[in-house]
Amino acid sequence: MPNAKTSSVASIVFTAFLLAACESRERTNAVSYSPAGPVPAEQQRPGDPNKGYEALLNAPYITCGMPYSAYKQTASAPEPMTLILGRPGRNAELPYNLTAYTTPKGVELVVNNCLSCHAGFFAGKLVIGLGNENLDFTEDRTAAAEGVGAYVEDEAEAAEWRRWADRIRAIAPYMITDTMGANPAINMTFALIAHRNPETLAWSPEPLIEPPPKSVAPVSIPPWWRMAKKNALFYNAEGRGDLARAMMVGAIFCADDVDTVRNIDAYAPDILAYFASLKPPPWPFGLDGKLAEQGRAVFERTCSGCHGTYGEQPIYPNLVLGLDEIGTDPVLAQHAVGGASDRFIAWFNGSYYGETARAAPAPGYFAPPLDGIWITAPYLHNGSVPTIEALLDSSKRPKYWTRSYESSAADYDPVGLGWRYTALGQGKAGTDDLRERKKIYDTTLPGHSNAGHVFGDGLSPEERKAVLEYLKTL
Ligand code: HEC
Ligand code: HEC
Repeated sequence: MPNAKTSSVASIVFTAFLLAACESRERTNAVSYSPAGPVPAEQQRPGDPNKGYEALLNAPYITCGMPYSAYKQTASAPEPMTLILGRPGRNAELPYNLTAYTTPKGVELVVNNCLSCHAGFFAGKLVIGLGNENLDFTEDRTAAAEGVGAYVEDEAEAAEWRRWADRIRAIAPYMITDTMGANPAINMTFALIAHRNPETLAWSPEPLIEPPPKSVAPVSIPPWWRMAKKNALFYNAEGRGDLARAMMVGAIFCADDVDTVRNIDAYAPDILAYFASLKPPPWPFGLDGKLAEQGRAVFERTCSGCHGTYGEQPIYPNLVLGLDEIGTDPVLAQHAVGGASDRFIAWFNGSYYGETARAAPAPGYFAPPLDGIWITAPYLHNGSVPTIEALLDSSKRPKYWTRSYESSAADYDPVGLGWRYTALGQGKAGTDDLRERKKIYDTTLPGHSNAGHVFGDGLSPEERKAVLEYLKTL
């Protein structure tokens, strides 16, 4: 039974809590979830897409990396197709995914920018905004970062290299995937959050909250041009509110204080405006216009309720489907709302990021806009289905498969819409060769299931063919 004394203590504590809550009114400091269903639009800050493009390629939103001198000694000359014309200064000689940054102490660094994951090649041409589905995160990167130390030239460089290599060491164990092409960005962000004070954003060598589990649910990288239509970020619509601020959590690797993040936040709306201005590349092959028109009718009857309509006056419903309705692999969505991620959600909402943005995952997956869908294979949030043809006929989905990871013209399947693949008789357990294992997409592993989204199964083969033709026009 509470006596008078404890209840007055309780009321003091409660009053203090209320005062604290009032002072940082915008920060909820709380775990929040969103329901499945339509995602409402929220007010966004305006931005300038041209400035956003410049910032994305050249601004120092990531401030640790390897010293330029070490880069020069270890990297081979970039292939011409990786260079973006018109980049200023040192950046002119760096591939698209690297940016030069000179620290306040005058050390020149080469840092990874957002295009490291968010730009890909199609038939030898760089496509900004297309997820790079060929990255290999199957190995621990600590040793490689340590190895760079052999090339640093003075003490100042050594300090910068240490800062970078220590970060890699801290997060590397949490970003090892089973399968090449699968992206660990979510776990990587959680691991970085675990090392940061939410108030000051300062880095702590030891984790301050428990890091995420080491098993990484595979994720395919969504194309940036979807941001023209989406009212929330991420597959489970977790990023809400001020989307420009929410997405710049992608720069959390070395953003070590609130002022640094505030500076980045000032141009973040420009970057978001650039994403919204991006147009997906047009279908590069021949098209049967009459068949596509038939496909449009089938699509509008069967698919538009979730994926919207396209053309002159597009409608996009911004819908998150509950797991029961969509039936695709549940691991990613369940982890976010089942309690396992609560400490990361609370961290975000109680930090500078949470002042205007919110982390509030939904128990399901966004039905994404299908603009430029022909080029974004493999499909589903976990990249478990290699072609749209197989996505629309679940009997055709391979249980075990492999692909080339080259994204050359010959690797594309213009009939099935996606990457050519080889179906295999057995999964990862069938081989001891590590180099082969990592190239096997094994849908029997946790997080890798290719089930669900059976909305194309009821179509006749002719209807399916027509829908595929129509999708080429989006
Ligand atoms: C290590 C790879 C990686 C890097 C680096 C990275 N991202 Fe991402 N990004 C991802 C992945 C994977 C997702 C999908 C995550 C999800 O939906 O849960 C994503 C999602 C997004 C989305 C949401 C897209 C959508 O359809 O909801 C935006 C916007 C975005 N990233 C912007 C950025 C920006 C800006 C940067 C640089 C500051 C960045 N990303 C750096 C991998 C990366
Ligand atoms: C009831 C809602 C719903 C209907 C109807 C529906 N979809 Fe989907 N679709 C989704 C959801 C949700 C996802 C994301 C699932 C995931 O990633 O796990 C999705 C994913 C997709 C993807 C993969 C996107 C990507 O980037 O990986 C394609 C392609 C697609 N749908 C096409 C279609 C077509 C074509 C139809 C009609 C035959 C259709 N869908 C009908 C909800 C729906």
